Amino acid sequence: MIGRLNHVAIAVPNLEASAAQYRNTLGAKVSAPQPEPDHGVTVVFVELPNTKIELLEPLGADSPIAAFLERNPAGGIHHICYEVDDILAARDKLKASGARVLGNGEPKIGAHKKPVLFLHPKDFNGALVELEQA
Ligand code: CO
Repeated sequence: MIGRLNHVAIAVPNLEASAAQYRNTLGAKVSAPQPEPDHGVTVVFVELPNTKIELLEPLGADSPIAAFLERNPAGGIHHICYEVDDILAARDKLKASGARVLGNGEPKIGAHKKPVLFLHPKDFNGALVELEQA
């Protein structure tokens, strides 16, 4: 059911510093910061030949990554995103197998303007999983 790894997201305390590190130290192609007010983050896309890394910084007072950064002040891997061909079919199959879909279970439009869903990390070895419609 799952397809390509779309991205790995890393929560960071200082987006400018982390973007500069990826650009200058690691020599990666890094986008300009993109505020995502609906998701409570500002994101920078690091383009790799086979996938993307997203660096996430909290945006606004009730950012969903604020608590994660309190527990991990230096930052850390926040979620991984797999592509699926049909996000509603994937959701229904997962729910039928007992996996928990976060939020109200309806896809939201993600940072790539495509529908996304998140799955409960306790159901997937402690890893927060994002599904994105391919
Ligand atoms: Co993501």
